[in-house]
Amino acid sequence: MTLTRATVRTPKKLSSPSFFHQPIHPHSAISANDFSVAEVRRILESADALEKDNPIKRANRLAKRRVALLFYESSTRTRTSFELAAKALGADTTLVSSLSSSIEKGESLKDTGITLKALGAECIILRSPYSGAPYLLARATGLPILNAGDGMAEHPSQALLDLRTILQFLAIRSSTVNEKSLRGVTLTICGDILHSRVARSNALLLPRLGAKVILCGPPEFLPDLAAEMTPGLVIERDFDSALRQSQIVMMLRIQAERLAGVQIDLDDYRTRYQANAERIAARAPQALIMHPGPIIRGMEITAEVADGPHSAIANQVYNGVPIRMALVARALSTVAKKRGPK
Ligand code: CP
Repeated sequence: MTLTRATVRTPKKLSSPSFFHQPIHPHSAISANDFSVAEVRRILESADALEKDNPIKRANRLAKRRVALLFYESSTRTRTSFELAAKALGADTTLVSSLSSSIEKGESLKDTGITLKALGAECIILRSPYSGAPYLLARATGLPILNAGDGMAEHPSQALLDLRTILQFLAIRSSTVNEKSLRGVTLTICGDILHSRVARSNALLLPRLGAKVILCGPPEFLPDLAAEMTPGLVIERDFDSALRQSQIVMMLRIQAERLAGVQIDLDDYRTRYQANAERIAARAPQALIMHPGPIIRGMEITAEVADGPHSAIANQVYNGVPIRMALVARALSTVAKKRGPK
């Protein structure tokens, strides 16, 4: 068969010059800065409502809508909770992971996104080792993109579920959340801040609700300029001093997969920055202990603290499903049309 112009026809929509430069869908969640405080409140309220919803009614909300999970990095909590969240709303989900798809053969993120869209995906949940990858996917597909963690950049759904956990600890109702809700609250984020997308999203979100956020760690994991990321951040190298000021402590693991030549004496690190029972009992006995996971027991946190009475680690994981239900529902909701002048 000879291929002629008539037989090699590109679908009109795909050949449009604007196809690869689409606006970012307004219901995407790529950065914690994508949400105004009012939007954060709405997401928290939606999470509460969906959590309480009758499961049968809830399973009709997104019945037969298609959600794709595109994971280029391993994940336990984020992937499972996004999938459970989408399924709880009745959506059909499909998982594409880099190890069992045509990504292995060299297919690009852009082409993978376009393929998923052509297969009917209405929303893509993306985890990527590359910072900024969700923006590329959003521009290439025009679909709402939910960032499930991009490189060292951001993990906005984690920041929202962390916020829900903090509000529950402080007994603050979602409906009252505003710019002053966390005024007077000091939270320390300790560990490998440099490589942590969780730290970045929390550091962007929590000060906007009034919290004082202390970043703590050695210079290898916490450059001085980190304090310039957003107003309301303070750098404290001395973990004991940070603990004395804090009602909430968020520990982070060392991201071995992103260290790229960083040299660190692990025994010294443990001595100075490990959350262990003796240190917490002496400096912050009532503090809420958080960790996004995965935890490395015996490194940044001991088993005694991780499993102790003040640990909120399991609560954080639990809060992943309601928050991600709210994000998936928001992603697939109708975009309100802007009203023109009357
Ligand atoms: N907190 C978090 O992102 O965990 P996973 O890597 O298991 O998804």
